[in-house]
Amino acid sequence: MDGDRRPLHAAGDVSIMHKIAVIAGDGIGKEVIPAGMAVLEAAAKGRNAALTFTELPWGCEYYLKQHRMLDEDGFERLAGFDAIYLGALGFPGVPDGVSAGLILAIRQRFDQYVNLRPMRLLPGLTSPLANRGAADIDMVCVRENSEGEYSGVGGRIHVGTAREVAQQVGVFTRHGIERIVRYAFELASTRPRKMLASATKSNALTHSMVLWDEVAEGVRRDFPSIDYRKYHVDALAARMITHPRTLDVLVTSNLFGDILTDIGSAISGSLGIAPGANINPTRKFPSMFEPIHGSAPDIAGKGIANPIGAIWAGALMLDHLGHRDVHDRVISAIERVVAGGTIRTPDLGGTATTKQMADAIVQEV
Ligand code: IPM
Ligand code: MG
Repeated sequence: MDGDRRPLHAAGDVSIMHKIAVIAGDGIGKEVIPAGMAVLEAAAKGRNAALTFTELPWGCEYYLKQHRMLDEDGFERLAGFDAIYLGALGFPGVPDGVSAGLILAIRQRFDQYVNLRPMRLLPGLTSPLANRGAADIDMVCVRENSEGEYSGVGGRIHVGTAREVAQQVGVFTRHGIERIVRYAFELASTRPRKMLASATKSNALTHSMVLWDEVAEGVRRDFPSIDYRKYHVDALAARMITHPRTLDVLVTSNLFGDILTDIGSAISGSLGIAPGANINPTRKFPSMFEPIHGSAPDIAGKGIANPIGAIWAGALMLDHLGHRDVHDRVISAIERVVAGGTIRTPDLGGTATTKQMADAIVQEV
């Protein structure tokens, strides 16, 4: 059954109450999410944010027993929350498509059409790119999260025969492109460098990406102060490595964004620190916040996973819920611990445990 509901503040508090559904999921998700909750509780204390966490036991281990990833009425229940805090899904013995299927279903069902992924080299961390410091890598990807190459349209016929055919159809709509590109321009206008790079591939994908470019050109007219450029996605991937400082906000289709954000987090020092927000900007449905790393079965259970990705994702959740101050508090606490350099998990070259790292961040907030 569900875990306990934990009110953050005593009754009578004037805080705004937010109901959070927690799906820690599998593997290291179960280790990093409690770390995230502890930091969020500490950071929200004394601010007008009160959180109640409802822990839902869903995921692959649940699937192995119940033959489903979530309860039958799972989506209806999730719809009643203000946000979803997700760890990771994936477990040996459960097909990838099943575990990933739940994430994709939540993103589509709740029209979380923006996948927002900051990619920053935090001061004190070492990038695998030689001679790059924090000033060089500070990007955020606005990934289309509801259609494109991930639409799920297609099928297979003549399965297992020599005539077998598979089709995976990319679905691009004017509406879907317009809203993601507009979100990206709006975000770019709030950032100091005011730059937007669009990932295209209109030389080869002559239908979908030509539409993408045309729609982006239209939206651009509403944002004359933004330095807008488009790059073929292959060249953009290379540019992230060779000239990361020339990139600020990126806007991408679903699959392109998936690939580019792994590059972005890898050059930021570790996949373990990168957060992601799946946002429904209309707020008709709950948004979902998750570290971008997976369940990492190889290190699961050892208590050594880096909790920063989950903690940062939690900060994005608080920001989305209207608490920019709490977000900033969490981020600067992460920055201070990382810059201090003494407490590092193994992925950052240290020997600290998940708990030690989380405790250090709690101390800082
Ligand atoms: C991500 C993941 C997912 C994606 C998988 C698990 C379906 O790689 O969030 O980047 O491709 O979107
Ligand atoms: Mg990915």
